[in-house]
Amino acid sequence: MKKRRNGLNNFIGAVIFFLTITIVVMSAVLIFSAVEQSGNKTTIALVMFAVIVFLAAVCTVVDWLRRKITVDRPVQKILEATDKIASGDFSVRLDIRHPVNRYDEYDCIMENFNKMAAELSRTEVLHTDFISNVSHEIKTPLAIIQNYAASLQNKNLDDRTREKYAQTLVGASKRLTALITNILKLNKLENQEIKPEYETVNLTETLAETVLGFEELIENKGLELECDFDEDVIIFSSPSYLETVWNNLLSNAVKFTEKGKISVSLKKEKGQAVVKVSDTGCGISSETGKHIFEKFYQGDTSHSQEGNGLGLALVKKVIDFTGGTIAVNSELGKGTTFTITLQSGE
Ligand SMILES: Nc1ncnc2c1ncn2[C@@H]1O[C@H](COP(=O)(O)OP(=O)(O)OP(=O)(O)O)[C@@H](O)[C@H]1O
Ligand SMILES: [Mg+2]
Repeated sequence: MKKRRNGLNNFIGAVIFFLTITIVVMSAVLIFSAVEQSGNKTTIALVMFAVIVFLAAVCTVVDWLRRKITVDRPVQKILEATDKIASGDFSVRLDIRHPVNRYDEYDCIMENFNKMAAELSRTEVLHTDFISNVSHEIKTPLAIIQNYAASLQNKNLDDRTREKYAQTLVGASKRLTALITNILKLNKLENQEIKPEYETVNLTETLAETVLGFEELIENKGLELECDFDEDVIIFSSPSYLETVWNNLLSNAVKFTEKGKISVSLKKEKGQAVVKVSDTGCGISSETGKHIFEKFYQGDTSHSQEGNGLGLALVKKVIDFTGGTIAVNSELGKGTTFTITLQSGE
């Protein structure tokens, strides 16, 4: 409650209370001295009784009004707003009654309520977007599977066409599997459901193994591969999670490069392991660069049939999770370099 400055309000409340009590006591004293002169004890007692009842009623009404204005009204507003939130309307916001330097407890509650409602509506938008993106990404390969499976039923197909259709079916089902695997991984990382198992890793060896897995793909595309690894770079991290990172960066490099080379380097620099994955591909415009780590974002529409735009979102999550950094440097038409920095384990 860092903005609460209700000292002035408390002071005003105390002054009102003090004045009310003073007026009540003074009035009682004045009335008592006025009726005392009559000398009749019964009259004095009756008048004093009436005066006390009247003054008690006045005090009750003043306190009731004070509570109505300072407590009941804001509580009522908050209750109505929480009812709306409970029924799923996250657009509701409360009008804060005082300027920020005179916030009381209710203003603080209202401000926190507004923040909570804004966060809930943001989460709802993300949730809806996520569902529509997933549905969209599932629909495309499913449509391919349906069409090609129907075409395969045609008995007059020659072997080559049959083979081509079967390959398309395998491709579409692989795409679905990749989508679901990535969604599950992202979900687990976001909900912090899993804790990566950290161990001492020889990054030089694991990175070399992953790159080796891409050799055929790189060769088939007529690209050159260049590797420059420092020997025995040791880190303390989760090898299975890091593999996701190298796989995604390398598959992007191959996918977005039509000619030239792919270079992977690993250097030990000031107690850190620095991995660079570079390509001479289509590059990333500065506008696209702002979004590449967002889920389902695909900047290059010519490749949108391949993948779902989840790869870099996953890479970023893993790097954040395991405590490293990722930077991208790219020039449109010339190529891209992703630089990952990880804490060395030595
Ligand atoms: N090496 C690269 N060269 C050029 N553009 C890239 C490169 N890497 C990523 N991008 C751009 O960033 C976008 C997001 O990349 P990301 O890996 O998240 O998705 P994807 O590769 O399209 O799909 P998926 O990773 O799910 O297979 C890509 O669609 C592309 O526009
Ligand atoms: Mg990718």
